[in-house]
Amino acid sequence: MNQTISYCQHGLKGVVTIPADKSISHRAVMFASLIKGTTLIKGFSKAQDPLSTVEVCKNLGVEIEHVNENDITVTSSGNLRQHSNYLNCGNSGTTMRLMSGILASQNFNSRLIGDESLSGRPMKRIIEPLTKMGAVIYSTENYPPLYIYGRDLCGINYHSSLASAQVKSCILLAGLNAEGKTTFTEPALSRNHTELLLSYLNADIKIDGLSVTVRPSKMESKTIEIPGDISSAAFFIAAALIVPHSDVTIKNVGLNPTRTGILEIIKRMGGVVEILDKRLVCGEPVGDLRVKYCELKGTVIEGDMIPKLIDEIPIIAVMATQAEGTTIVRNAQDLRYKESDRISAITSILKKLGADIEETSDGFIVNGKTKLTGGVEIDSLEDHRLAMSAYIAGYLCQNSILVRDFDCVDISFPEFEQYVNYLHM
Ligand code: S3P
Repeated sequence: MNQTISYCQHGLKGVVTIPADKSISHRAVMFASLIKGTTLIKGFSKAQDPLSTVEVCKNLGVEIEHVNENDITVTSSGNLRQHSNYLNCGNSGTTMRLMSGILASQNFNSRLIGDESLSGRPMKRIIEPLTKMGAVIYSTENYPPLYIYGRDLCGINYHSSLASAQVKSCILLAGLNAEGKTTFTEPALSRNHTELLLSYLNADIKIDGLSVTVRPSKMESKTIEIPGDISSAAFFIAAALIVPHSDVTIKNVGLNPTRTGILEIIKRMGGVVEILDKRLVCGEPVGDLRVKYCELKGTVIEGDMIPKLIDEIPIIAVMATQAEGTTIVRNAQDLRYKESDRISAITSILKKLGADIEETSDGFIVNGKTKLTGGVEIDSLEDHRLAMSAYIAGYLCQNSILVRDFDCVDISFPEFEQYVNYLHM
């Protein structure tokens, strides 16, 4: 499906409630699959990626049912069962990488596949540490499909050169079922939903700065409630800040400090995001955000900040085109290995729309503020975050744009179009 977007004259206005966090949804269903009994998950994501995890867990013998539109139950014997066919992870790197950690220690073998995009994403980052734990995984040059031969694992003390929550979670999940203790140390703090949810479910886990240690343990069944996804909210936060006359309230936004890099950057850019009614949901901070149009200025985004906003960099690039002065993103080389090479893709999309942006090896440089001309067709590369970033940029283009393969937004945010239409009324 292609999508046409036209200049937004009167701004975005209204109140929306953000759907469930994708990262936490994956973890909730995976962890519940390892717990004996029935776990209620409230506010489960309807996005395709977490649904890939649901399908994989179902194929491993877990019963997963909807109790109403938003809530699911996960019923498990506490043990997974071999699946005779491929386990399809679809487009989801989180499904493949985290499930590999779980499957490596089972007493059966598994085969994991993904779609074309996932088949081109590097798995060495998990194969290497899992192999050190005694796992046996075959692949072609460390790309999917992965053939995992279940083995008894032993704990490791692993220092990762990447700040990646997917790698960290994979190793911690393997460690939960390995002999001895497993310690994972990362160079900068990546999202810590695995740690928070494992603690909430009473797994044996200890956090010491950038190191996390787990020991073999059984988790306890407890109701899990999932807050809204700040990575989905980011599109409305950015749109409200840069589309003149906007005033938007975004409810139920997860505000875990390992995910709120975008809010810190907006503050530095001179933007104002008001946080209302801050509360805790299953150990995760949540709040409502009110955002209005305002003048922004350029900034530098680098170092430890990158993991805290890794998925928001495409929409931050769009914001930077409307900020006065120069915005530089560096140390974000891992963005080249996401659903697409997001450094090169967002640079070429915004250039095509009329922005002044240059790609660098590990980021980009944007000079603003620019009037976007538009009047062109944009290839989303079937990458959901690129499609939504292009959509928001389209609101500022003097001439309508067309975004190809827009339905890929279903990967993380199937409600996106309904929400923007509502705010644009
Ligand atoms: C995710 C971690 C991030 C992020 C991805 C989801 C997760 O990836 O980009 O969308 O749920 O753990 P990396 O950990 O590879 O940076």
